Amino acid sequence: MSGKIRVMSVFGTRPEAIKMAPLVMELGKRPEFESLCCLTGQHRQMLDSVMEIFGLQAQYDLDIMEKQQTLSTITTKTLLGMERVLEEAKPDLVLVHGDTSTTFAGALAAFYHKIPVGHVEAGLRTYDRYSPFPEEMNRTLVGDIASLHFSPTRANGENLRKEAIRGEIFITGNTVIDAMKTTVRPDFVFEEDILNRLDYSGRKVITLTCHRRENYGQPMEDIMTAVRTIVEENPEVEVVYPVHLSPVVQECAGRLLGGLDRVHLIAPLDVAQMHNLMARSYLVLTDSGGLQEEAPAMGKPVLVLRRETERPEAIAAGTAKLAGVETERIVHLTRELLRDPTAYARMARAVNPYGDGNACLRIADAIAWHFGLRKERPEDFEAK
Ligand code: UD1
Ligand code: UDP
Repeated sequence: MSGKIRVMSVFGTRPEAIKMAPLVMELGKRPEFESLCCLTGQHRQMLDSVMEIFGLQAQYDLDIMEKQQTLSTITTKTLLGMERVLEEAKPDLVLVHGDTSTTFAGALAAFYHKIPVGHVEAGLRTYDRYSPFPEEMNRTLVGDIASLHFSPTRANGENLRKEAIRGEIFITGNTVIDAMKTTVRPDFVFEEDILNRLDYSGRKVITLTCHRRENYGQPMEDIMTAVRTIVEENPEVEVVYPVHLSPVVQECAGRLLGGLDRVHLIAPLDVAQMHNLMARSYLVLTDSGGLQEEAPAMGKPVLVLRRETERPEAIAAGTAKLAGVETERIVHLTRELLRDPTAYARMARAVNPYGDGNACLRIADAIAWHFGLRKERPEDFEAK
């Protein structure tokens, strides 16, 4: 093949941007590629913040976000918006990431234009189509559409093999570990001043995030009630909760946790502040996918506020526990980590089941190999 390979990365939410940024940068460095970005803008402020931190500029921006957006509006606006973009840019390959509605619609749009798709973070599964919702279905459908599958872990790749998925599977590690290489620093100064003033060694700081659609309603109420109880029971605890901008989450967090002295409800943090907050925290309570991958790399115990997870590796390594969404159990498991030093020490070990920081090198090499620009297939990532 002659000329540069045009690779278009399509993304739209905060986690996709954080995990695609190091890949876009890696592709941009290599002479064999022309790296293009198309943002859907599914998240506006939270996406722009990531673009700014990594110094990235997009060639296309569909700017689709609405205040009360539904799965249908995200999907249809992306699909329609991508028509003109793909006709104009004519990429050789479209890359999508993960399992959001942007991911699914971006992959489908490429398929409609007969453009091959590479799926980054491929093969995560719970095998429950409603949990996480709609992510499990999004990633399964993208698995069928994609020709190149970049699976973070061996187990993710095995899922795809069991499903007899078509195309090439590469085990690369998760790109989020690559992203962390540039963000965490011991001398970091926060823009959010309350985070500079917290006493991280004298107090026990808990980083909390909670946003998933399947937790909307009773589960989210029960999680917030658990957090309230934990703070009331343990005077040494400070909770920092950067609240997701979803109106549903904002309402629930404000109603159940607003006004408590040692619960700091703050605006979403940019990713550098977020990583440095986690690195200084005592433990992490979260329903986020990304935090489940990042915290183990920092040696921070994670209690996962979900009924199941597609990221079992940290649980197997003993640094994360599935806490579920019921108040009692979340309070119990947190209490144990706060009061039992042995239980805490067992979980507070830095492990890296999700990556070694070289995922983007492997993915870029794999794309080059696929297009005949490199002889060797990249070696698989092996968790140590
Ligand atoms: C989306 C993804 C979910 C991912 C999460 C990461 C889907 C269906 N869901 O869920 O997989 O885990 O992102 O955070 O793709 N909003 C803003 N500004 C922003 C971002 C969001 O105002 O920068 C508000 C808007 O009112 C928007 C609402 O949040 O309508 C919900 O955003 P949406 O992307 O639909 O859902 P998430 O829960 O963020
Ligand atoms: N994150 C961030 N600021 C915040 C909360 C999270 O930068 O206020 C980062 C976090 O470090 C991780 C990613 O966003 O890299 C996870 O995104 P989110 O929890 O929104 O989505 P999920 O991973 O659950 O899809």
